[in-house]
Amino acid sequence: MNTITAAITAVGGYVPDYVLTNQILETMMETNDEWITSRTGIKERRILKDKDKGTSFLAIEAAKDLLRKSNTDPKDIDLIIMATATPDMLVSATGVFVATEIGAVNAFSFDLAAACSSFIFGMSTAARYIESGKYKKVLLIGADKMSSIIDYTDRTTCIIFGDGAGAVLFEPNYDGLGVQDEYLRSDGVGRPHLKVDAGGSLLPPSAETIANKQHYVFQDGKTVFKFAVSKMADACEKVMTANNLSGDDVRWLVPHQANKRIINAASKRMNLADEKVMINIHKYGNTTSATLPLCLWDYENQLKKGDNLIFAAFGGGFTWGAVYLKWAYDPKQ
Ligand code: UT7
Repeated sequence: MNTITAAITAVGGYVPDYVLTNQILETMMETNDEWITSRTGIKERRILKDKDKGTSFLAIEAAKDLLRKSNTDPKDIDLIIMATATPDMLVSATGVFVATEIGAVNAFSFDLAAACSSFIFGMSTAARYIESGKYKKVLLIGADKMSSIIDYTDRTTCIIFGDGAGAVLFEPNYDGLGVQDEYLRSDGVGRPHLKVDAGGSLLPPSAETIANKQHYVFQDGKTVFKFAVSKMADACEKVMTANNLSGDDVRWLVPHQANKRIINAASKRMNLADEKVMINIHKYGNTTSATLPLCLWDYENQLKKGDNLIFAAFGGGFTWGAVYLKWAYDPKQ
């Protein structure tokens, strides 16, 4: 029997309608379009305004988009992995609700949390389930309603993040396409530098935590930036070296969209021309778990069977890594 590899066979996505531009942010705080654009590459981001909708809403829309486009029957899905840093609730897994809402009645589901690396770690997890031979359709969703944990008076964080969701379907491939290799890492040294202090078991919610604004994202941007530049590029290099890939062999870099300058550093280390790098940070900002699948969503029509893709991410924790994948289909009509 041929070896089973885990191929991406469909892509879906969703971003909310409301566009929060740099110009609007200028009216809310002491900042300006020139600063935000030159430091991050971001021009606008999408925000889910509805107060009664959480991350599950974004995830359900992205999953429905994928099911519609690929003509997939949700009853055939075996597993849904929900990559997110902003679950609807602490205890009841968001993926379970999403599965039921989209009609995936034969699937089991769980959430996977690794901050901005949730999706890339989810790719690794999804691949192992497929490679086991037991599971035939694994839906990996990356979704975050970052606006639910962002302080819109803190100009150092609120300019960066946005809301969105993307989804990919993994299926077995017998021709060697799909996930080839990965290099994944984490280091708890990062915990003080990018976190939400309160709301977990360490510091449960109280009047004091609310007054101290401890339910919002805190980021020591400079330290995170330094680690991100070095670790994301390092992971790409590691996975390329292990697979004898040069910059010429790589068709696309699919990088986490946290800062255009971090992406540039990685592509430079990989010797990649700009036109080989997926970029949509200008439109969506940093959507945390959704950045990688939203890149695929935007670039799907340019992808060809056999293309070598390197996915790369860096996030809170710290967590980071790179995945090498061979694309499995030509653009669909
Ligand atoms: O996805 C998870 C991983 N996260 C990341 O990868 C994010 C990594 N970090 C970054 O992308 C960058 O550090 C930021 C974009 C967050 C910040 O850029 P920076 O170049 O590191 O700026 P900085 O924090 O060093 O601030 C430089 C100056 C400061 O003023 P002084 O002290 O030099 O007078 C800030 O107060 O810019 C000021 N500043 C701003 N000015 C206008 C900070 N935020 C703003 C702002 N508008 N929004």
